[in-house]
Amino acid sequence: MGRRLASGEAPDSCMVKKRSPLRQIRSRDQNIRLPRTVRNSLPLSLRGSYSTQSRHEQAFVGCRHAARNPNPEGSDFKWRNTRSDKTTVGTPMPVISIYNNKGGVGKSTLTVGLAEFLASNRKRSVLVIDLDAQSSSSGSLLGRAAVAHAIESQRTITRLAESIIQSGKSPKNLSAFITERPASTARGTSLEKIAILVPEKPGMLELEETMTQTKDLLALRAYLKPALASYEFVLIDLPGNIDRRSKLAVSALVMSDFVLIPVEPSQISLNALPDTFELIHRARELGKNGRPAIIGLVLNKTDKRTEQYRSKFPPILEAAGKGELPPVFENVIPDTPKLATATDETHDFSTLKDRFDTYYDHVRKVTRELEERCEEYAFAPEDGSAASYGGWLRRWFGALGNRKKIQAQRMRAQV
Ligand SMILES: Nc1ncnc2c1ncn2[C@@H]1O[C@H](COP(=O)(O)OP(=O)(O)O)[C@@H](O)[C@H]1O
Ligand SMILES: [Mg+2]
Repeated sequence: MGRRLASGEAPDSCMVKKRSPLRQIRSRDQNIRLPRTVRNSLPLSLRGSYSTQSRHEQAFVGCRHAARNPNPEGSDFKWRNTRSDKTTVGTPMPVISIYNNKGGVGKSTLTVGLAEFLASNRKRSVLVIDLDAQSSSSGSLLGRAAVAHAIESQRTITRLAESIIQSGKSPKNLSAFITERPASTARGTSLEKIAILVPEKPGMLELEETMTQTKDLLALRAYLKPALASYEFVLIDLPGNIDRRSKLAVSALVMSDFVLIPVEPSQISLNALPDTFELIHRARELGKNGRPAIIGLVLNKTDKRTEQYRSKFPPILEAAGKGELPPVFENVIPDTPKLATATDETHDFSTLKDRFDTYYDHVRKVTRELEERCEEYAFAPEDGSAASYGGWLRRWFGALGNRKKIQAQRMRAQV
């Protein structure tokens, strides 16, 4: 039987053994653990208090990762404790960019959903960096008045980036730039605190003009990333329609461990993917550390029963299975006006149920899958470059075009 880890002690794989079901149930403060079937039978509002994973299992995951590759990404990748009791080791702190070069595919909606579920359902400390000048995700999390106030008092990512790039140093007082969405006091899965870095459009354009050297594009990774180590998840909401001249966005990609790409199952949305892959590839060339890795495509506004889905996605899933495209998340987000309401900045939500209503479970499952994929990817070798993904898509688009031409020729021949 495995013994308990002392504070700060790293687990040794040989001491992590299977425990009898009865021994798996412990008291809350010591991380109560329930078998998955029992936990799933509880009302949703109670489930968050219980885990199906023991600390030993959590530790084991970290241990397995660390054993395979102690420092997979070079010196800037952090392995660190995520629980205050310091018995969990090896969980990475991921910086995740939510990016697709097409606008309107759900980047901001997904950022808000992930931030809320990571903070309130998974009890993680979360920082959202909103790099879209339209400030959709910060508006949705904070409300318009608080965003305006943050800009007025210069608490913005723009000012923070400016001070880092100009000084070439980590920020002395990061909290002076951060705005916090306070936790609500409602019963049930009340919304937890989330930290937000708000954008400011005019300053952003000015700053980008001053970023003339490659070192400026690497500055956020060198000086900001280490200062974010107190957060368990950093989510970056990027704007659409950007290219290599969008220097702040490129430097945010360089700082990222992963990119999550929301897509809609439509040809128009897929058409934007080669550009998306190309910019990610550019960030990798600049960063020279194999990052950011594409953690996956998340299908938004999706119903698996529709013709659009059935005609477009089987070849994409097949290519993803062979590594010719990035992985596709198993869980999808449906098309529903409820999710449009969930990000409405004029609504004052106080619980997760309030905010996501009947779509609670969809967003929860995508969040969970993201966490799991982050853990797996932390050590997986990166095969297939972002550029070759674009190549696959172009060939496929070409084939689709040819099929259309052939069909048209056949139709003409029949007439
Ligand atoms: N799953 C969904 N169902 C219905 N509407 C959605 C969904 N996801 C996003 N939307 C809506 O689509 C629009 C664009 O979403 P947004 O998250 O702002 O995209 P982006 O950040 O990529 O530009 C918004 O009006 C949003 O409310
Ligand atoms: Mg957006």
